[in-house]
Amino acid sequence: MVKRYFALVNILIVGSGGREHALSWKLSQSRKVDTIFTVPGNGGTPNNLSIDADDPDGLIDFAKKNNCFTVVGPEAPLAAGIVDEFNSNNLKIFGPSRKAAQLESSKIWAKNFMRRNGISTSRFEIFDDAQKAKKYLESLDYNVVVKADGLAAGKGVIVCNSDDEARLAIDTILVKKTFGDAGNRIIIEERIDGIEASYIALSDGSVAIPMATSQDHKRIFDGDKGPNTGGMGAYSPTPVIDDLLAKKIQEEIIDKTILAMKNEGIQFKGFLYAGIMIRDNEPFVLEYNVRMGDPECQPIMMRMDFDLYDYLEASIDGTLSSMPQPAWKKESAVCVVLASEGYPGSYPSNEEISGFDSVPNDVCVFHAGTKRRDGKILSNGGRVLGVTALGDSLESAISNAYGAVEKISWPHKYCRKDIGQKGLAYF
Ligand code: GLY
Repeated sequence: MVKRYFALVNILIVGSGGREHALSWKLSQSRKVDTIFTVPGNGGTPNNLSIDADDPDGLIDFAKKNNCFTVVGPEAPLAAGIVDEFNSNNLKIFGPSRKAAQLESSKIWAKNFMRRNGISTSRFEIFDDAQKAKKYLESLDYNVVVKADGLAAGKGVIVCNSDDEARLAIDTILVKKTFGDAGNRIIIEERIDGIEASYIALSDGSVAIPMATSQDHKRIFDGDKGPNTGGMGAYSPTPVIDDLLAKKIQEEIIDKTILAMKNEGIQFKGFLYAGIMIRDNEPFVLEYNVRMGDPECQPIMMRMDFDLYDYLEASIDGTLSSMPQPAWKKESAVCVVLASEGYPGSYPSNEEISGFDSVPNDVCVFHAGTKRRDGKILSNGGRVLGVTALGDSLESAISNAYGAVEKISWPHKYCRKDIGQKGLAYF
């Protein structure tokens, strides 16, 4: 008989996206994890709870009664201070505190943090007055990006091709208040043209260990055309970040951020995601996220060759420096997001999805905007599924993922046809 020398733990995952389904898939493989609960979850996540995901008291009560280790997926509860509330109830929860989450919840806070700590980012100014912002534009001889300060579900960043577009963006955020109070202040920053990639690390407040590199596809249409979305697909690893560049990003951005946060009295525990723009081999931070990327999480989880739970626990306990170097599968992984046609605008819901049984067993279909009703899986959101496959090369991972995509159907299914091509073009 094999003896166990550790107590099993239950997991409570907060969130409802593809990222949370992928996290639960990976955590379910841990020898230390017993039951996984999800709140609110989706049609694919295990043991969805009917308690209010926005009510920390209900979540705390459940976590206490069920000996849960809680894992928070999205930024909104982190920005609202869920980690602080759980900590003050002596409950184990993975993710940054409210103060540390400011790196994502206030773009102005993050830009000022980078400026005062010498972390590479583009030039910028801050405004709360549209006339002054427009006057400032006239003094610039480069294109800009206009950003709402607060959380805007990934929509508060407007990349401008001309002064006219920039003036429109200023009005959209500061005058029309399209993003509500999140747009009370804006950043106008220099637009840096280059190659975008995602660099995600796991930190315990003192050290940060890199996760596998990845690249997202943010626009809705092939060839990176059309409006921004939450992400239409991702692959890992990305050739865009070679070993030398990874070392530079790790040392000059990630490690520097964690140390500077610590020096400012804020411990950053959790996933730190730097959205990076690479120009002439120099990395610039476009933005920080204080969580795993979605859909980057899906291919990263498929390549992860270690027990995620051990590392999440080490992040909370401040013991990451004593953990072995994380191992990654050599294969590439590709996630193709299947969305409802119309997304990121309006789209139909409640359409029955079929074909799950025809997908090969080694392909993961992570659910996002889905729900279960009467034994059926129905579409229930903009991004619906993330079909994620491994392959010996990026090319074969693309082929495996799209092979499985063909098996799944519903009336208004939409996906990009070129996920991963940006990486292939790089070789
Ligand atoms: N994939 C972009 C994000 O997670 O914000």
